[in-house]
Amino acid sequence: MGAMKFFSFLAVAMVLSMSHSQAQEGNWGDESVPYTMGPEKMTKLRFYFHDIITGENPTAVQIAQATGTNTSSTMFGALMMIDDPLTEGPDINSTLVRRAQGFYGLSGQNEISLIMGMSLVFTANKKFNGSTISVLSRNAVTHTEREFAIVGGTGYFQFARGFISAKTYSFLVPNAVVEYNCTIVHPSSVSESGKSDSVPGKSDSSSGSKISLVSSLVFVSVIAYVTINLSLQHFSW
Ligand SMILES: *[C@@H]1O[C@H](CO)[C@@H](O)[C@H](O)[C@H]1NC(C)=O
Ligand SMILES: *[C@@H]1O[C@H](CO)[C@@H](O)[C@H](O)[C@H]1NC(C)=O
Ligand SMILES: *[C@@H]1O[C@H](CO)[C@@H](O)[C@H](O)[C@H]1NC(C)=O
Ligand SMILES: *[C@@H]1O[C@H](CO)[C@@H](O)[C@H](O)[C@H]1NC(C)=O
Ligand SMILES: *[C@@H]1O[C@H](CO)[C@@H](O)[C@H](O)[C@H]1NC(C)=O
Repeated sequence: MGAMKFFSFLAVAMVLSMSHSQAQEGNWGDESVPYTMGPEKMTKLRFYFHDIITGENPTAVQIAQATGTNTSSTMFGALMMIDDPLTEGPDINSTLVRRAQGFYGLSGQNEISLIMGMSLVFTANKKFNGSTISVLSRNAVTHTEREFAIVGGTGYFQFARGFISAKTYSFLVPNAVVEYNCTIVHPSSVSESGKSDSVPGKSDSSSGSKISLVSSLVFVSVIAYVTINLSLQHFSW
């Protein structure tokens, strides 16, 4: 009976330690640990946004509208999908540096204004290649100067936040060229190649793995002690 107890205890201990080690793999469990952002830096970018609605190759197309959009003086309810070029200078033929991919909707009933949700995708610059910044903001297009919120980013711009100062450069109805000055604050631990040396999240999980290494050692020691204790009791019978 003692032996039965001992072996079933061993079986339970094995199952426990198996599920324990599985939970450690990759450190992507439901775990929250304290975290401080560390040093940050500021990146400033300037380029021109081209919203081309008419012509042979429009970069902004209407994808939906409300029943009242046609009779609304502010086009309330229209929704556009965009893949707008972002160039170095105001000339559409100047160097293409990025693209603005996303949508905007006419969201004002009393004043023409947009709600814009878009990713600015970096293409031309090796340093930022493939990285994106996310913009989600109101755009009061009739005001010459306005400001948009940068709410996040990927690659070089992980954990980004900031804002964009925008000013209409030209507006040949309905096509617009808008000057964008971006101010982006983001952790300096991500390398310039866009790959992360030590992504902020990673230092996080390495401290997490230290904690789990310690807890594994404690766990194994306890199992070993109890096993020895039980087997000594069993064999001294
Ligand atoms: C709104 O006007 C456009 C043309 O200007 C037309 O194609 C569309 O069907 C109209 N929509 C409604 C809901 O009347
Ligand atoms: C840009 O280049 C195209 C041809 O490549 C030309 O048709 C167009 O007029 C140019 N636009 C400007 C603003 O220079
Ligand atoms: C950016 O990355 C793409 C593939 O991800 C590559 O084709 C392109 O040449 C790169 N551009 C630069 C400027 O590094
Ligand atoms: C962008 O910055 C430049 C240089 O500081 C300035 O001349 C320009 O007015 C700014 N534009 C906007 C839209 O803030
Ligand atoms: C095992 O544990 C019991 C009580 O839990 C204790 O009395 C006994 O001394 C322990 N045996 C050893 C070998 O540590």
